[in-house]
Order: sequence, then C-alpha cells, then structure tokens
Amino acid sequence: MPRRKLIAANWKMYKTPAHAEEFLRGCLPVLAAHSRSEIVICPPFTSLAAVSAMVLESNIGIGGQNMHWEKEGAYTGEISAGMLLAAGCTHVILGHSERRQYFGETDDTVNLKLKTALESGLTPIVCVGEVLEEREAGLTEDVLRRQCVRAFNTISAKKAGPLVIAYEPVWAIGTGKTATPQIAADAHSLIRGEAAKAFGDEFAAQMRILYGGSVKPDNAKALMSQEEIDGALVGGASLNPETFLAIVQA
Ligand code: PGA
Repeated sequence: MPRRKLIAANWKMYKTPAHAEEFLRGCLPVLAAHSRSEIVICPPFTSLAAVSAMVLESNIGIGGQNMHWEKEGAYTGEISAGMLLAAGCTHVILGHSERRQYFGETDDTVNLKLKTALESGLTPIVCVGEVLEEREAGLTEDVLRRQCVRAFNTISAKKAGPLVIAYEPVWAIGTGKTATPQIAADAHSLIRGEAAKAFGDEFAAQMRILYGGSVKPDNAKALMSQEEIDGALVGGASLNPETFLAIVQA
C-alpha cells in the first residue's frame, strides 16, 4: 500500500489564539476539502483550544510541539499526553532540534516521551537530524543511527503503530538552505533501515518519514515527488495561509 503523505505545520512560538483563528479563516475551507494528504497543525499550547474548536468537523489533525513523559506531577511548566488529548490533539512532535539545542532534550528523553505518546494514543512525530558540523565531518549516518536506535529503544513493533519520523537536518531549519531531494532521500532510506532493524521490514515499509527544513512552495514539489519522502514538517512557510496551502497543493 502506498504511504499517504502527511503535511504538518509547526508554528513554533508564533500565533496567539486570535492569530491562529485568522490563519484558519484564510485557509480552512481549502485545507478541509483536501483529501490527498493528511494535514496536521501544531500550534503553541495556548492556541490548541482555538485551533481545535475551528477544525473540529474536519479531518485536520492537531499536534502538540512537545510533552512530558509522566502522566502528571510536580513538573512546573510541563504538559502531559493526557492534557494534549483533552485539548484536542491527535499528534505530538517529539525531539525537535530546537528542543534538543535549547532545552536539554536528549535521545533518552525522546525515548521516554515516545513510549508515553504511543501508550496514550497520540501519533508521535519524532524529529532526527544532524547539525552542520556533523555533516561536514561525515558523521551524518552515525548521528541518524544513534538518534533512531535510542529513540526506538525497548519499543516493540506492536506498540510503535502510528510512529512518524521527521528528518530535519538542523542546518536546513529556518536557514533557507534546503537539503536536495537526493540528500533527503538518502537520509530517509537510512532511517527506514533503522526502523526495519528495530521493528521489522513490514513495519518499516509502511512507516512515514517526513522531511523538514526550509520547505517552501517552490521546493515542495521536487521534495514530495521523491518516493522516500512521505510528507513535510513545515516551520516558517506554515505561518502564512497562502504559502502553507501552496505546499499542501504542490
Ligand atoms: P523551517 O522549520 O521550515 O522554518 O525550516 C522546520 C521545522 O523546524 O520543523
């Protein structure tokens, strides 16, 4: 079965509830009518309720941008999987490079979060990717392998069900430098190989791997037409209804 593409908008720390509503007023009818790809919007926590109320009757998914692995507890400033579900989330981004870079996210916390997300019924979008120095030092494959092995640690194929991976080379995020379709496709096959080792060939063959890093309307088509690329995690270009729609329709 061909893998259905998934286009996810990562709004990062942008958009109040009013801005989120304005965005959706600009593109909801077209997004909701689009059935070729699965569409997921990941607003900041404080705009989840507003987005959830507006997309309720559509098949658009909603994702958190992070979560804690514990069910509840004395973790000031954190959000649990149950809270995301209660706010209308279907998905959650885990291990984004900005979390790794600025907020101490590690391969091990990604693993804990991934287990909790899967147990709670959220579809996790686990981000992996090398920084520029690692690519230049020829370490890309090692880094991607390590991130996958540790993220997948002690998770069974039966439990991993809806797992989605996003390959996001850190040097391409927010820089306007996109990986060439070939660079992305090579990384994706390596990641699929790691998924096969952890979960078996059948699982790996149906697992979706998104590309993220300066996806724009003018490069979306070339990237999405790669057999290995099953969708996109879009940051900057997802903030504007016109550019996001152009990517969805590419
Ligand atoms: P970008 O961000 O599209 O702005 O490069 C992608 C991401 O960080 O998920």
